[in-house]
Amino acid sequence: MPKQLIRLVVNGEGHEVAVEPWWSLLHVVREVIGLTGSKEGCGTGDCGACSMIVNGRLVTSCIFLALEADGAQVTTIEGIGGDKGLHPIQQAFVEEGAVQCGYCIPGMIVAAYDLLRQNPRPTLEEIRYALAGNLCRCTGYTKIYQAVLRAAEMMGG
Ligand code: FES
Ligand code: FES
Repeated sequence: MPKQLIRLVVNGEGHEVAVEPWWSLLHVVREVIGLTGSKEGCGTGDCGACSMIVNGRLVTSCIFLALEADGAQVTTIEGIGGDKGLHPIQQAFVEEGAVQCGYCIPGMIVAAYDLLRQNPRPTLEEIRYALAGNLCRCTGYTKIYQAVLRAAEMMGG
């Protein structure tokens, strides 16, 4: 079966990519487009390390077919913060010491970003719920939740 051409906008930049029907969005973003901030942890939709926002919806991109992203607007960790410096969520993670090995952190930041744009002043419970799909083997989560609370304050929520 020949590859199929899809068009997608990633962090504001348009791309045309020929994809195999079984490729995931994560594969396209990392291996074809070359944005390697999003991580593959489980590859089965269970850990959240590959989180991206697609057409305004938080998705686990390892199980999101690239073909389904045809025409989509995609935000990855590289689209949060950037050349101008750290996004307040990233700054808050640094200040709270919420990062250890770092592997889960891009997904955590994307999920927190998705939460705060919908709910600028979440409670601790709301943060725990919003990040429930993001697994971390290092931090014990408390500092991550504190970082999201701090980010909400920094962003004036
Ligand atoms: S790598 Fe996608 S959810 Fe774990
Ligand atoms: S900081 Fe290591 S998995 Fe989260």
